[in-house]
Amino acid sequence: MEGIGFVCSSAATTARTATATKRMPTAAGMKAEAAPRKTVLVTGVSRGLGRALSLELARRGHAVIGCARSPDKVQALQHELMGVSPDASSSSSSSASPPSKHLIIDLDVRSDSGVQALAKLLMETKRFPDIIVNNAGTINKNNKIWEVPAEEFDMVMDTNVKGISNIIRHFLPLMIQRKHGTIVNMSSGWGRSAAAEVAPYCASKWAVEGLTKSVAKELPPGLAIVALSPGVVNTDMLASCFGSSASLYQTPETWAPNAATMILNLTTEDNGASLTV
Ligand SMILES: NC(=O)c1ccc[n+]([C@@H]2O[C@H](COP(=O)([O-])OP(=O)(O)OC[C@H]3O[C@@H](n4cnc5c(N)ncnc54)[C@H](OP(=O)(O)O)[C@@H]3O)[C@@H](O)[C@H]2O)c1
Repeated sequence: MEGIGFVCSSAATTARTATATKRMPTAAGMKAEAAPRKTVLVTGVSRGLGRALSLELARRGHAVIGCARSPDKVQALQHELMGVSPDASSSSSSSASPPSKHLIIDLDVRSDSGVQALAKLLMETKRFPDIIVNNAGTINKNNKIWEVPAEEFDMVMDTNVKGISNIIRHFLPLMIQRKHGTIVNMSSGWGRSAAAEVAPYCASKWAVEGLTKSVAKELPPGLAIVALSPGVVNTDMLASCFGSSASLYQTPETWAPNAATMILNLTTEDNGASLTV
């Protein structure tokens, strides 16, 4: 299957801004969140926000389906997730290891056929995502727009916009069929404002906002799609555009609990919203 590598498959409208503070759970909210175990598909899990979010979701007992293009990191995360899941210790007493509920694969979201193959696999193995976090993203090297090579501009748009569109194309029909599902498209402060030297990235994130709001108008009841700006977090991507001052910002591990709580508590009332962690 083109574009998909099973590195470690264990079983085979109005822009509205909500802050994480507003969405921090009440005791009742925490209880509600603890109840159902969800299956969450997160793209771009080999490092940064996607990796930290995947680990946080697994710690809370949710099943994680993840992808990225770095086979070694994908494989390492698969093993790490099995270790942090709440049921990991109880399963170790059994002589036969149960198949992991997590599935982290080597997949480039720019590959429409690869994404299609993933959707097919998940359908066949009855791992229907309740939530999809379209997190995979890339940024151009800081440069005036006329200095950005065409290939680099394409890479940013193909990953940040068309990658999300590929996921939506193959997963949204499944969610519509099941009358249930939430899609979170990772946006940015630069999807709502502008900055010099990152025009391709800004353009892609403004596109994410527009795509999200348009799709929101197409969704039947029971489904929701939102654009989520993660705030500013010290990752490889931030180091690329902020340089050494990236280290002044929160780590992905500090960010992930707030983000996970917010994402797990989204409802259909959030459909079309532009939110911020
Ligand atoms: N960090 C921030 O402050 C910040 C602020 C605003 C928005 N964001 C957004 O948050 C998201 C995560 O950013 P981050 O800071 O964690 O970035 P990062 O550290 O650069 O990580 C990006 C992740 O996306 C994956 N990825 C890139 N291209 C991919 C592709 N074609 N197919 C599959 N996976 C791919 C990378 O894995 P591989 O290279 O292994 O494929 C990596 O796991 C992005 O959408 C970004 O735009 C971040």
